[in-house]
Amino acid sequence: MNFTGAHIVSIDQFERPDVEAIFAVADRMQPYALRKRVTRVLEGAILGNMFFEASTRTRISFGSAFNLLGGEVRETAGFDNSALVKGESLQDTARVLSGFSDVICMRHPVAGSVADFALASRVPVVSGGDGANEHPTQALLDLYTIRKEMADRGRSITGLKIAMIGDLRHGRTVHSLGKLLCLYTDVEVVLISPEKLSLPEGIVELMRNSSIKVTHYDDLLEGIVDVDIVYSTRIQEERFPNKREADLYRGKFRLNQAIYTEFCQPNTVIMHPMPRDSRSDANELDCDLDNNPNLAIFRQADNGVLVRMALFAMVLDVVDSVDAHSHDVRWFNARQN
Ligand code: NCD
Repeated sequence: MNFTGAHIVSIDQFERPDVEAIFAVADRMQPYALRKRVTRVLEGAILGNMFFEASTRTRISFGSAFNLLGGEVRETAGFDNSALVKGESLQDTARVLSGFSDVICMRHPVAGSVADFALASRVPVVSGGDGANEHPTQALLDLYTIRKEMADRGRSITGLKIAMIGDLRHGRTVHSLGKLLCLYTDVEVVLISPEKLSLPEGIVELMRNSSIKVTHYDDLLEGIVDVDIVYSTRIQEERFPNKREADLYRGKFRLNQAIYTEFCQPNTVIMHPMPRDSRSDANELDCDLDNNPNLAIFRQADNGVLVRMALFAMVLDVVDSVDAHSHDVRWFNARQN
């Protein structure tokens, strides 16, 4: 695909070479994300970062990625602080904001809303998640992480067996990741969820049609025995009609070190889009896993900045000028990696 000026709203847009191209650019962003070098390539550019739904890492990760390329960030967080509460349409917001911005990132609780917003925007729009539908940049950073973690183990994406665990019905990250995996061959996906929270049939069908072998379990311990990756997810409480219903599923798929040692293969990579729900009745990834070197969740979040830098550089067509506008950092760098 041609990335210049493109909206990024769904994994459906990508072919495999597009994904490989994003990953190759993301690799090149490492010195900037690690504060070894500074680039000013997007000096003067403005990101409109508009999050109409709760977010910590995605919003800050988009903003940091843009700042690391030398651009400025203007943002709004939550419905209550936006003109949407005054009855403004998303299209009007898009028309106005795209007059002030060079690119817009947007998260909204309604499925399809980011694509609708993009139709009225005069600048590229990158989705930060639209309701229970998709979260394309998260899937890209997830697959980038999988690729990196497996490369360290002398493996590639091809031939992997990946367990997706938890609320697969409402979890937009697994929807996008499921679609993304369809671009790869010889991949096996193990879906571990209660029947009522299973992955939407349309995505399962896409995976089957693309030759992914799909199996289902509702028991965590049966499902995780011989997988390379466990990708755990949070019960998406905010998508249930009421909290009581979400409570029925909370805490059903807890992974801790004892379970990992007994049931997982020794080098199984542990992933989660985060936030992990660490409340005692949920505790989906126990803190006793924090010293397990296979816990990749913080490396995964770090990778989000690289992938988002790559997307901004590609959409704004500056990939080949990033290094030309760079210099070494001048300040003390406490981060060793
Ligand atoms: C996810 C999301 O918002 O879909 N978080 C994220 O962006 N990393 C997952 C979640 O909220 O459970």
